[in-house]
Amino acid sequence: MPFHGIAVIGAGMIGAAHAAAYRQFAHRFGPAGTLHTVCDMNHEAARKLAADWGFARTATDWKSVIADAGIDVVSVCLPNYLHTEVTLAALAAGKHVLCEKPLALDAASARPVAEAARKAGSVSGTVFNYRRIPAIAAIRARIEAGDLGRPVQIGVQFQCDYAADPLLPHSWRYELAKAGPGALLDVGTHAVDTMRFLFGEVVEVIGAVSTISIPERRLPLGATSGHGHAALSDRTAPVDNDDVMSALLRFANGAQGFLSASRVAVGSGNRLAVEVMGTEGTARFTTEMPSFYEIALRAPGGPAGFTRVMNSPQAPDIGTLATVPHDAVSVGYAEWFGFMIHDFLRCCAEGRPFRNGSIEDGYAAARVLDSIQSASSRAAAVQVEPAA
Ligand SMILES: NC(=O)c1ccc[n+]([C@@H]2O[C@H](COP(=O)([O-])OP(=O)(O)OC[C@H]3O[C@@H](n4cnc5c(N)ncnc54)[C@H](O)[C@@H]3O)[C@@H](O)[C@H]2O)c1
Repeated sequence: MPFHGIAVIGAGMIGAAHAAAYRQFAHRFGPAGTLHTVCDMNHEAARKLAADWGFARTATDWKSVIADAGIDVVSVCLPNYLHTEVTLAALAAGKHVLCEKPLALDAASARPVAEAARKAGSVSGTVFNYRRIPAIAAIRARIEAGDLGRPVQIGVQFQCDYAADPLLPHSWRYELAKAGPGALLDVGTHAVDTMRFLFGEVVEVIGAVSTISIPERRLPLGATSGHGHAALSDRTAPVDNDDVMSALLRFANGAQGFLSASRVAVGSGNRLAVEVMGTEGTARFTTEMPSFYEIALRAPGGPAGFTRVMNSPQAPDIGTLATVPHDAVSVGYAEWFGFMIHDFLRCCAEGRPFRNGSIEDGYAAARVLDSIQSASSRAAAVQVEPAA
């Protein structure tokens, strides 16, 4: 059954990506006028986002969105601690729901969402937009085709510097109770999902280490949005979740993995770097150079060098969905996001499950993230012997 009304709940940094992508693709699957409501408790933020992308109405209470029979597709773009409550309410009301990552603060709270999604008649998903990067999807296809041989090792680093400035205001992101683990849950979630997407299930966390490098921040005088600056008060509040997290993992396929997540890596604005090693070859990619990935295949009798594979209309989603689908024309964040929203809306319109970034994927990532968090707080480290 086709959908007829779309709402974005949360008009902050990522609400804008949802609103823009719905604007781009909703008319392909739904009737005119589907861009229904933007909701934010900060009414000015809701009003601005609605005006920017042509949504008809605004709301300040998310419960009014859930109760509105004219709305049947909902994006949950709220701070992490609200994800489960709002997603469960949306599923109970029979709405299609796309929940931002992380699905929940921990696996115990993700589990009831997964159970509700399994029973629901509606379409649901977790936002794992980095799967939609054409080069990452292409690397997965190379792995599935056996080009890299047997998986041996994967390294995924998600390094950001959005929190590197100690004069950025305190917000929900820096509180364990509201955000969960810091860099780990914020960007490590994407790293875990990318690993699962490429190498399958993680079965063991060997060890992990976390650091809080800026232990307190000043409180803002007013509302905050995204990672932006704001006028600061003289009062400070502690930061009680990680700025940096690294972990060693083992996969069901026998491979080992290294994950690193940081929100204070000066110079790395929003850098996801992936390297996958198999017995026959290596593939690597970084969001800093999104137009290509590189691959090296073992050459008998000689050293294998890396070959650059540029984006092309044959790469996943580019030929069918990119605005300018030609060889080596750059695609970026908003386009990958749009590829995901397009798939989600098509699933809603056709009444079939959204599998590429499902609620189950959000629950699976939560279980791995829980294990990393608990490994980081375990005193299992082996001390290095001081020099004699
Ligand atoms: N997929 C991605 O790559 C990506 C990128 C950034 C953020 N995110 C996720 O998106 C979510 C939101 O992040 P953000 O950066 O947009 O945050 P943000 O702080 O910029 O925006 C959150 C918005 O929610 C509003 N809000 C808070 N409580 C509310 C309530 N009870 N009712 C209505 N509105 C309320 C705030 O006023 C704010 O405008 C987070 O879970 C984050 O992890 C995902």
